Amino acid sequence: MKKPIPLFFLVAVTAWAVSATELSKNIRQVVEIHRLRPQTGSAGHRIPQIDCLSWRLGVETNNIRDWKLVPSDCENYVGHYMLGEQYRDDCEIVADAAIEYANGLTLSGDGTEIWVFDIDETTLSNIPYYARSDVAFGAVPYNDTKFDEWVSEGKAPAIPASLRLYNAVLSLGIKPVFLTGTKEAFREVRTANLKEAGYYNWEKLILKGVNDTGSAVEYKSGKRTELVNAGYKIVGNIGDQWSDLLGVDVGDRTFKLPDPMYYIG
Ligand SMILES: *[C@@H]1O[C@H](CO)[C@@H](O)[C@H](O)[C@H]1NC(C)=O
Ligand SMILES: *[C@@H]1O[C@H](CO)[C@@H](O)[C@H](O)[C@H]1NC(C)=O
Repeated sequence: MKKPIPLFFLVAVTAWAVSATELSKNIRQVVEIHRLRPQTGSAGHRIPQIDCLSWRLGVETNNIRDWKLVPSDCENYVGHYMLGEQYRDDCEIVADAAIEYANGLTLSGDGTEIWVFDIDETTLSNIPYYARSDVAFGAVPYNDTKFDEWVSEGKAPAIPASLRLYNAVLSLGIKPVFLTGTKEAFREVRTANLKEAGYYNWEKLILKGVNDTGSAVEYKSGKRTELVNAGYKIVGNIGDQWSDLLGVDVGDRTFKLPDPMYYIG
């Protein structure tokens, strides 16, 4: 089953892009994307040595851990998954489940109920960066200088499903808290990027300070514990990494968004 990826990408990019300059940049990326011939459907295709759909299921379920790179045989597969409708559908179904859960909550309305949102690949999408040929959807080793340059541009679009959840949560009177591994130095650009993408209100935006050491699980657990100690009740927690959702004070319910491009332990 083949999917019209470049066309869908255009639609996706048009939906995500907010400015003309952004659009022209994304169209340049579409040209790069054409390198990826649609050799597999996004539902998977057996590639010699590795079944990429099995690999993706393995990473999404946290059965495969501490992986450093997308297997080179799966670069095309992951690229088509991320740019095709399957990724968007997979995000939408997570948002549906989260909104259904939130709507069913008995809320005190006392202002202490919060929902923790991770940022990268949760509220904001780095697809325009990951689709670059020098990044190759995570099949090329991570370069923090290069990634920081992209973050500094402040051009990451919203993930539409997460924006829908965010608005649902806000309308219920649950306060959003953003908790990210992004460094404190990026506070200003991240704030502007969140607003540009449609996230206007939050109770707190927690970034990683110079003294926040340890693993992602330790860092995020520590920050959540601080929230709980300050009197907040974490009713929901959503992230693309298992390190967003494991540890202590994870919240009454957690929701995992897909991310087959990178692993943060
Ligand atoms: C990482 O990216 C920077 C900026 O583009 C580049 O100067 C540097 O050579 C890259 N490092 C590696 C190891 O590729
Ligand atoms: C980090 O820790 C050092 C040493 O304890 C301290 O002097 C500094 O103020 C801390 N920085 C922040 C931003 O908390």
